Amino acid sequence: MARSLSINDGEVLIAPSVLSANPLRMAEAVEGLSGEYDLLHVDIMDGHFVPNLSYGPDLVRRMRQEWPEVTLDTHLMVENPEQFIDVFAEAGTDILTVHVEVAPHLHRLIEMIRARGCIPGVSINPATPVEWLKPVLPMVGLVLVMSVNPGFGGQSFIPQVLSKVKALSCWKKAGSFDYLIEVDGGVTPQNVGEVVKAGCDVVVAGSTIFKASSPSDTARLLKKIAVEAKRSGR
Ligand code: DX5
Ligand code: ZN
Repeated sequence: MARSLSINDGEVLIAPSVLSANPLRMAEAVEGLSGEYDLLHVDIMDGHFVPNLSYGPDLVRRMRQEWPEVTLDTHLMVENPEQFIDVFAEAGTDILTVHVEVAPHLHRLIEMIRARGCIPGVSINPATPVEWLKPVLPMVGLVLVMSVNPGFGGQSFIPQVLSKVKALSCWKKAGSFDYLIEVDGGVTPQNVGEVVKAGCDVVVAGSTIFKASSPSDTARLLKKIAVEAKRSGR
């Protein structure tokens, strides 16, 4: 059964993306974070929806076995996501996020994810209008706003997506929805304050954390800056 996804007022969650960890040393990299994170972000890429390949459900299954208490945040960047819901749910992910661009029957897909015991998330690419998400906002636990074009870690943040984060934050308040807003791509200690002030609840960071000389210190620093920004904006 999936954990519930919620945050206290003034809180921000940090989700390191293992895509930027050395794949031959991933377990050491995650354990080296010394618990300085809230979710573990796992990027699944198929070489079609995005121009890169990454992992399959067995990575999630092994993570679940190895780290039963960790909240696993699986980001599916694949065509035909409906073919992969069952295997990732069975593997034990908590959150399962699909892209609106590859989901013509999004309601059905979200219902399917929830029926399999996962928290449904929906994601949009930088060039996709945020209005596409409106019909499903009451149904999801997470909205993932891509702030780079998906496929690779280490790209530069696209500031134009902040207006989408602001819109999602306004709609959430107006509709009393309970989704969290996650921002993924190019987040650094320099821009995380602005990202959080726009309304982000969950910060994904890959290269910023795993390429740092001290990943655990960097994750703690990101959280500190993020929480200060959130509290100063209240
Ligand atoms: C990109 C992935 C991201 C990526 C973020 O397609 O969805 O999760 O790992 O990496 P950074 O933080 O390095 O941009
Ligand atoms: Zn991602």
